[in-house]
Amino acid sequence: MALQLANRLVIPLGVAAAVLQASIYDVPGGYRAVMFDRFSGVQNEAKPEGTHFLVPWLQRAILYDCRIKPRNISTTTGSKDLQMVSITLRVLSRPDVTHLSKIYQSLGMDYDERVLPSIGNEVLKSIVAQFDAAELITQREVVSSRIREDLLQRAGEFNLTLEDVSITHLTFGKEFTQAVEAKQIAQQDAERAKFIVEKASISKLVQALY
Ligand SMILES: *[C@@H]1O[C@H](CO)[C@@H](O)[C@H](O)[C@H]1NC(C)=O
Ligand SMILES: *[C@@H]1O[C@H](CO)[C@@H](O)[C@H](O)[C@H]1NC(C)=O
Repeated sequence: MALQLANRLVIPLGVAAAVLQASIYDVPGGYRAVMFDRFSGVQNEAKPEGTHFLVPWLQRAILYDCRIKPRNISTTTGSKDLQMVSITLRVLSRPDVTHLSKIYQSLGMDYDERVLPSIGNEVLKSIVAQFDAAELITQREVVSSRIREDLLQRAGEFNLTLEDVSITHLTFGKEFTQAVEAKQIAQQDAERAKFIVEKASISKLVQALY
């Protein structure tokens, strides 16, 4: 009798506990949850950090890490004067949380992997092609801000926010590097020659004076 009574209480309690557990979900710090509903589809508003309820089976919470993420984007491309340039960008990105459900619907979970390398390469190629190799060195700030502007705009079209974009590496093909080195050596030689000539003319002047 007592056992039967206990069973009658324990089983429903267990089921209730399981249902309750399945209907609570946690959104950790730095995350947001996109809600998917079997009937109404993806809900517009993403859920903020904290503990929330859902209807088990009917609804599902998809967690998105919305913290700032670093990424390197590298490409090798041609400058305006057709020199090979290897360039690496460091990009800090995060999803625009107000459009998270759009991101989920159009790009899925690996949205940044799908978007950033491809638009990064596209922007790098198009900007580098507008400068001569020497200009890429002497006008690095201009190049950097052009890349930043274009990349920010392109990323915005995919609802990605970029916190920072900076050029971390810029190297040139062997030919150009050798040409620059040769030019530097020639310049040093010319300066040395000028110095010798000046010294000679000074000693002539000194001789003339005394
Ligand atoms: C980017 O490259 C630097 C070295 O250039 C490295 O230290 C860093 O870990 C890289 N970051 C990522 C996210 O790959
Ligand atoms: C980005 O958000 C806009 C709405 O502001 C939307 O029209 C567009 O489809 C979104 N793009 C992606 C790739 O999520």
